[in-house]
Amino acid sequence: MPQIPLQTARLDLIPLTDEHLAEEIALDADPDVTHYVWGRPRTREEVLASHAQRMERGRQIDGLGFWAGFARDEPGRPFVGWWILGPLHGPDQGDWRTSPGVAELGYRLHRRFWRQGFASEGSRELLRHGFEELGLHRVIAQAVTDNMGSRAVMESVGMRFVRSWDEPDGEVEYAVTRHAWFSRHLS
Ligand SMILES: CC(C)(COP(=O)(O)OP(=O)(O)OC[C@H]1O[C@@H](n2cnc3c(N)ncnc32)[C@H](O)[C@@H]1OP(=O)(O)O)[C@@H](O)C(=O)NCCC(=O)NCCS
Repeated sequence: MPQIPLQTARLDLIPLTDEHLAEEIALDADPDVTHYVWGRPRTREEVLASHAQRMERGRQIDGLGFWAGFARDEPGRPFVGWWILGPLHGPDQGDWRTSPGVAELGYRLHRRFWRQGFASEGSRELLRHGFEELGLHRVIAQAVTDNMGSRAVMESVGMRFVRSWDEPDGEVEYAVTRHAWFSRHLS
């Protein structure tokens, strides 16, 4: 199943393409947005490289990848940010080839949309899609320990703390299983 467009009450979630590159560059130019990710804003060239990696991750497992989110009912249908429900990657997550039923959830939003429920709204839809339509059995999310906003989103969508590493300034991982998701949403 290829990656498909999704909708929530307020968001159109569109599979990321090269057409969204300018939005990604503008997003990463804000130091507040990148504070807990890179510690500084990112240059156009750096975002170009990230965009290529995002597109590559979108090709690894059918149905998984990045989505660009747009606020459907706001004038001009502005870009809110991006979400990922993607294959595992990197040394802290393991190899996606050996964990096909496990995915990583993530999000990065423009500051003007923070604290309005957008990150959790998009995340809930990606979890629903992942468990109900893609047959995932577990979704994880990771953040630096101090990123309380990101951790609050994880809690808000039903993920639970699993582990931390690189203490004291390290990272945390949260997760939700297919079983927990269905227990929560069918009860
Ligand atoms: C982290 C981020 C995605 C949160 O997005 P958001 O749209 O403001 O989050 P929501 O409005 O959906 O909030 C969900 C919950 O988190 C809480 N929350 C959001 N930001 C918070 C913060 N900075 N501190 C504490 N709690 C926070 C909300 O109050 C809400 O709690 P509730 O469910 O109990 O009501 C956003 O701040 C962002 O894009 N930050 C920069 C990029 C980033 O750090 N991404 C994550 C990398 S791991």
